[in-house]
Amino acid sequence: MAVNRLFLLLVIAFELCANQQSKAEVVRRLEKPALQTLALSASPINDTLSARTGVFIGPSDTQIQFSGQSMKINKEENDVFSVRLTTTEFNLEANSPFGSRMLKIKSNSAKEAMRILFNLNSNARRETKFHLNNCKIEIEKRENGTQTEYKARVENCADEDGFEKYFVLDLNFKSGDASQIYSLDLNGPDIQRVSKYFKYAKTYYTSTERDTYYTILNNSALEADEITITNFHFTVSSKSNPSLFSDDLYSTYYWNYYI
Ligand SMILES: *[C@@H]1O[C@H](CO)[C@@H](O)[C@H](O)[C@H]1NC(C)=O
Ligand SMILES: *[C@@H]1O[C@H](CO)[C@@H](O)[C@H](O)[C@H]1NC(C)=O
Ligand SMILES: *[C@@H]1O[C@H](CO)[C@@H](O)[C@H](O)[C@H]1NC(C)=O
Repeated sequence: MAVNRLFLLLVIAFELCANQQSKAEVVRRLEKPALQTLALSASPINDTLSARTGVFIGPSDTQIQFSGQSMKINKEENDVFSVRLTTTEFNLEANSPFGSRMLKIKSNSAKEAMRILFNLNSNARRETKFHLNNCKIEIEKRENGTQTEYKARVENCADEDGFEKYFVLDLNFKSGDASQIYSLDLNGPDIQRVSKYFKYAKTYYTSTERDTYYTILNNSALEADEITITNFHFTVSSKSNPSLFSDDLYSTYYWNYYI
């Protein structure tokens, strides 16, 4: 009897261990962004000054930064806030990356951030439809031996609608060098650019599994070579019409979830 009981206990213990190993932890449950854009508008003031207004929703710890001339934030009810921005640069050169037209919004409690790069050439207008608000993002984490595997799933956020989705990781090497890698098609021609880092961190997607993205960290290899990972996030980005003379209100729009 005692032997039978011991056997039963061993079986239970073994199954518990096996379950533990394969059980995925939900890092972020399938849901829409906590940071959302409700409206953007452009209103030129005069020949040298241009204004942009944004209305957003976000948790109470939401922080905002703007690289342009001035920013005025108005907190309204129900986590809605509006931001009025002015910038003196609204010529074509100002549309170079990181000119004075980048708005950054971040919530540490939601682990989310948005970056909006305004198109300063757009005429006075207002936009209230932002499809990214309907995207749903889920992230799971699974420990597998010395590997940590992350899987992101996205719904309502199709490539056909202009969205790009990928994990981003900054690898910092012992030598002081750093490399940024992001998920690429495992069977595509560009994968060679990042495959030399696969030993440490493999991030990819495949065409057979739609809207599913993976990152696999090899913890023993990372530790052995003293590589640290900073800035690990999942991004959904949307670029508007790339034409310099486009009338879109933004030229690029990023939503990040920090892991
Ligand atoms: C544009 O408007 C700003 C703010 O009202 C003002 O300070 C500036 O002098 C104006 N510039 C011109 C060229 O009218
Ligand atoms: C765990 O890692 C091994 C070795 O890389 C791999 O063959 C296996 O498919 C992984 N298991 C899961 C559930 O991902
Ligand atoms: C993980 O790194 C170790 C070296 O620390 C290596 O032997 C192993 O092959 C790597 N695993 C994968 C799946 O690349």
